[in-house]
Amino acid sequence: MYNEIDLDIIEINSEPPTEEPFRQYYFMAKCRRWVKDFEQKNGRLPKSFVLNMGCQMNARDSEKLAGILEQAGFLEALDEHADFVIYNTCTVRENANLKVYGHLGLLKHEKKSNPHMRIALCGCMMQEPEVVEKLKKSYRFVDLIFGTHNIFKFAELLAATLESREQVVDIWDGTDEIVEDLPVERKYPFKSGVNIMFGCNNFCSYCIVPYVRGRERSRRPEDILREIETLAEDGVSEVMLLGQNVNSYGKTLQEPVSFGELLRRVEQVEGIKRIRFMTSHPKDLSEELIQVMKESKKICRHLHLPLQSGSTRILKAMNRKYTKEQYLELAERIRREIPGISLTTDIIVGFPGETEEDFLETLDVVKKVQYDNAYTFIYSKRTGTPAAAMENQVPEAEVKSRFDRLLALVQENARAQTARFADSVQEVLIEEVNEHDSSLLTGRMSNNLLVHFPGDTSLIGSIRKVRLEVCKGFYYMGTLLENAPQESKTPSRL
Ligand code: SAH
Ligand code: SF4
Ligand code: F3S
Repeated sequence: MYNEIDLDIIEINSEPPTEEPFRQYYFMAKCRRWVKDFEQKNGRLPKSFVLNMGCQMNARDSEKLAGILEQAGFLEALDEHADFVIYNTCTVRENANLKVYGHLGLLKHEKKSNPHMRIALCGCMMQEPEVVEKLKKSYRFVDLIFGTHNIFKFAELLAATLESREQVVDIWDGTDEIVEDLPVERKYPFKSGVNIMFGCNNFCSYCIVPYVRGRERSRRPEDILREIETLAEDGVSEVMLLGQNVNSYGKTLQEPVSFGELLRRVEQVEGIKRIRFMTSHPKDLSEELIQVMKESKKICRHLHLPLQSGSTRILKAMNRKYTKEQYLELAERIRREIPGISLTTDIIVGFPGETEEDFLETLDVVKKVQYDNAYTFIYSKRTGTPAAAMENQVPEAEVKSRFDRLLALVQENARAQTARFADSVQEVLIEEVNEHDSSLLTGRMSNNLLVHFPGDTSLIGSIRKVRLEVCKGFYYMGTLLENAPQESKTPSRL
């Protein structure tokens, strides 16, 4: 593992090794030398800032970027007043791109007042050729641009940027490579995301992810388990297994392993008390997974099951490969087999060709499933996807009105679903001090609901029992029942 390697003994004047991850350690050592020189010249250590702009998978990547910067010796800055700023971008909707350009305007200004400053952009948006062309042409103050496939090379690219004043651009079209054992700097000491696979093969017709993240690749189960064991030894009690479609985990491995089987193995890891995962595609959700969840004492009582649309006709145009009836049957089966489970979803409004009737089908599914929460999105046209070429785009005003109607229904359901836990006692993982009131702590229940209650900061990171007293719509106010830590024998069931 990386933390067994002493960067200070690496000979940085010799040629870099060709084998990974050793090559990256060599460049980390080079960056460390640069940091020492910086300190000598300026009488202070350089500061770095990593901003994650995307989904949980990007968030995990950002922790890897932060881990490398930490190994190099950078201090962590709380905002863009830093010597090295890196944005890990998202491009799933047009808004995400606009946000990056907005931030870049501010960074340009910041760079004028700090001559040391270097700016880097990486992540999904950088896999779009038009974006990179625009950056090369009109955003010359950006020092480093790289994409999703070569993120493992960050140490090497960082070293190149620190040593040169030229714009460094390195974008790969794809990769089969998965580089293990690079450093990571976790945001929370007690919980962590764990990539189990990369990329996506589903090509939902509206979605840009398969184009910017490449083909589906699963990590080997032994590598995943080794990482989780190390995390557990390091005090992590909750892991979130990450992939664009976790239900198809393991299919591309030399020795195929199902997602259900992987979960069974993760369940055995001592010290891990809670297991979550994201995201499940309904078409691949197996009976095995339902049974594993049912039997598990550690898998959280929450399933995110993206619907996207309730209309079979639109689902077909979206290339989702399930019908309204199949989805409803699946949701019902899950609720029946795992009583008390919370179901959440993603819904897109205004996909090309969506009629009022199609939209009513979506509302119908929402009413029937009674989601605990739903993320609703206005369809965003993504260049290069099949849906972008579809002719019958829905007028904006119509989409907006549908969106508002959907949101009202979703919120009504979410309130009703949240209220069903009133007066119960729940085990919560205490995550942080409440953002608005520092006398309160915030804990997360197995079903992902939050509860705020008075308590001491020393409890952060532990799992405790809390009585849910006042339902505030989408969260609770409560009281801590006792201070003794819960035994891991107690299942975190609802
Ligand atoms: N792999 C996950 C989702 C990844 S993207 C899955 O299949 O569920 C997260 C969500 O963004 C999607 O579920 C979808 O609802 C939304 N989304 C993706 N592309 C979009 C687009 N072009 N316009 C609007 N929403 C989109
Ligand atoms: Fe996009 Fe569909 Fe893949 Fe999810 S499953 S990332 S929505 S293509
Ligand atoms: Fe965005 Fe990339 Fe995630 S496009 S949603 S950050 S995989």
